[in-house]
Amino acid sequence: MADTSSESPVEPDVLPRDFVWGVSTSSYQIEGAVREDGRGLSVWDEFCRQPGRIANGDTGDIACDHYHRYAEDVALMHRLGVQAYRFSVAWPRVLPQGFGPPNPAGLAFYDRLVDALMAKGIEPWLCLYHWDLPQALQERGGWLSREIIGWFGDYAGLVARRLGDRVRRFATFNEPSVFTLFGYGMAWHPPGLTNTLALHRAIHHVNLAHGAGVDAVRAARPAASIGAIHNVQPSRAAGDTAADAVAARRLDAIWNRAFPEPQLLGRYPAELAAEIEPNLAAGDLERMHRPVDWFGLNHYGPIFARANDKAPLGFDWADAPAGVRRSPIGWQEDPAAFRDVLIDVHRRYRLPIYVTENGVGAVEKPDDNGEIIDRERIAYLKSYGQALREAVRAGADVRGYFVWSLLDNFEWGAGYANRFGLVYVDNETQRRIPKASAHWYARMIRAQATAGVT
Ligand code: FCB
Repeated sequence: MADTSSESPVEPDVLPRDFVWGVSTSSYQIEGAVREDGRGLSVWDEFCRQPGRIANGDTGDIACDHYHRYAEDVALMHRLGVQAYRFSVAWPRVLPQGFGPPNPAGLAFYDRLVDALMAKGIEPWLCLYHWDLPQALQERGGWLSREIIGWFGDYAGLVARRLGDRVRRFATFNEPSVFTLFGYGMAWHPPGLTNTLALHRAIHHVNLAHGAGVDAVRAARPAASIGAIHNVQPSRAAGDTAADAVAARRLDAIWNRAFPEPQLLGRYPAELAAEIEPNLAAGDLERMHRPVDWFGLNHYGPIFARANDKAPLGFDWADAPAGVRRSPIGWQEDPAAFRDVLIDVHRRYRLPIYVTENGVGAVEKPDDNGEIIDRERIAYLKSYGQALREAVRAGADVRGYFVWSLLDNFEWGAGYANRFGLVYVDNETQRRIPKASAHWYARMIRAQATAGVT
């Protein structure tokens, strides 16, 4: 077993002993079995088939084969000592047409998964939507149809009724700004559009569907603890022109505020309000603004915008500039930005925060000993862990942290090239090999249980 550091990973800690340590995954990225047991197709199945969309022509057809190997994966989590597992339900697996008759075999899979987690004392955190919309709904307009509010509400109610006897933690959406901006503004995700009118309509319908989802889960399970998961990352200007500064502010409105502000404060950011307005019906602001119990926060590092008059949104997404500290796949690493985001989100929304994703991607393969000694990931997790503790010291109410990800998996447009797992997955054999970071994380959790504040 690879073990690269012998020092105690935590000093006497500012975090409470009941702080939740977990790992995250999502359905399309790990499950595979896309045509099995009555699952309907998702927009990602369709998108992956379009030439040139995904690096190397990769698809989620097999992914980590988690649909068949979930018991092994739960056993891995148990060995890591995580207390919680955040996963998502694939809407088309439980409702192949998006609405109508449920698929008993699909629901039974999540029953088995939840039971396996409970048997090992791992708390399931269930996310209802991590981007795999049923293709059948896409064909009826998807996020551009107002009917999707009802479709999503019914789906949320079904899942809560079926699994809510064991699952207490429900999230409505994962990173709504990513799938709307990338899907409708940048053409990097399905449905592959660059259309600002469509983007603004989709944003509004997702916010309304969130409200319907919260209501449906509460109606089915009054004791449920409900949140939504937002990516919050400082948006920075790629250059030092005034136009770049405006571009960064615009990206910030879409990326960081288009969802939490309406959902939690009952209004759209000023930069977006006029553009969303044509989609607004009477009562919509109340429909989106439903009380929730926690804020799910995903964070990797700052993002960058560059002004471009010819781009549909007036800006382009830009790479992190040379000269900043970057991860092996080129994302900026800036733990101080993470600390500041946690403090800022605490002040703005006054909800308990759970960091539902944080981690680092790399291109990795086993060394000659068959091990993956991922020192960079350990260094990243340590420095982001310190930043989190600084935020807590400064008063941010952070109650949990989930590493993205348990497993190397299908990383959307990058296919299988970018690996974020604590556990390496051999794509040919499906063999799982815990990386050095997995052993580090396990030790840190154990140490925390004794060093934490009671
Ligand atoms: C987030 C996604 C997650 C994964 C990580 C690297 O934006 O929620 O599915 O792709 O990035």
